[in-house]
Amino acid sequence: MAKITASVYTSHVPAIGAALDLGKDHEPYWQPLFKGYEKSKEWLKANKPDVIFLVYNDHATAFSLEMIPTFAIGTAASYNIADEGFGPRPVPPVVGHPELASHIAQSVIQQDFDLTIVNKMDVDHGLTVPLNLLCGKQDPQTGAWPCPVIPFAVNVVQYPVPSGQRCLNLGKAIRRAIESYESPDGKELNVQVWGTGGMSHQLQGPRAGLINLDWDKAFVERMVKDPEDLAKMPHIDYVREAGSEGIELVMWLIARGAMSDLRDSARGESTAGKAPQEIHRFHHVPASNTSVGHLILENSSITH
Ligand code: DHB
Ligand code: FE
Repeated sequence: MAKITASVYTSHVPAIGAALDLGKDHEPYWQPLFKGYEKSKEWLKANKPDVIFLVYNDHATAFSLEMIPTFAIGTAASYNIADEGFGPRPVPPVVGHPELASHIAQSVIQQDFDLTIVNKMDVDHGLTVPLNLLCGKQDPQTGAWPCPVIPFAVNVVQYPVPSGQRCLNLGKAIRRAIESYESPDGKELNVQVWGTGGMSHQLQGPRAGLINLDWDKAFVERMVKDPEDLAKMPHIDYVREAGSEGIELVMWLIARGAMSDLRDSARGESTAGKAPQEIHRFHHVPASNTSVGHLILENSSITH
């Protein structure tokens, strides 16, 4: 009684949020970036989900360096916007979906992934910037995000971080969890899974400013066509080719793993499903220090 209709992938640069908040989005520097998301905003309006399962990373905001969960699922009814040093961003709070989130926690933990359950946390630019990019600017008082969001935080800040293979496998477990949900009112929930962060960027050290657009484009192509092979890529390749913060890209593999074309041996599936339909792909360089990438995939079984 819940199905995954699509997955969405996007970078999360904080300066994108600042550009929107300060009304700079029509300036020449930002215009080409926001133009690349016009089609996505139209698509989201036409394909509004009931819930977004949003995979992102916290930047030592909700979780300090004193306590760092590898995978944390938000089970709260709502999430306040974090103060990242300049006051909280002027965007609406995020409404959660405790029933579905608790079910996913139960199912995924029983599938042997150790999730941290988070009943209270603030969310930073890692979550709010992707929402802005797809949903547009929202008034902090009178506006609202289009649907409830389940925040799913992944540690990509402090080593050791999870492997691409573990992220892809986790995506498959999340798909099993979502598809086994029974909503109290019997209605089928339309769920999108979003994978965020990346693409190439390095914010520190002698290689600060690194961007590798060719590698980023190849990453997206491999992620669409052969995610099982891409999942085998070791961390050192991400860091060497995409910079220290490029490791955020492993989170895209969680969303990709939740798509129904991937064979799920834990369910006894012997064949893979139909390839997803690519709705939109976009690259832009640079936004602040980052190479921006964006992709939308729809499950092929979905009928409009
Ligand atoms: C930048 C990118 C990030 O992913 C981040 O978390 C902070 C800053 C940047 O490009 O400036
Ligand atoms: Fe980041």
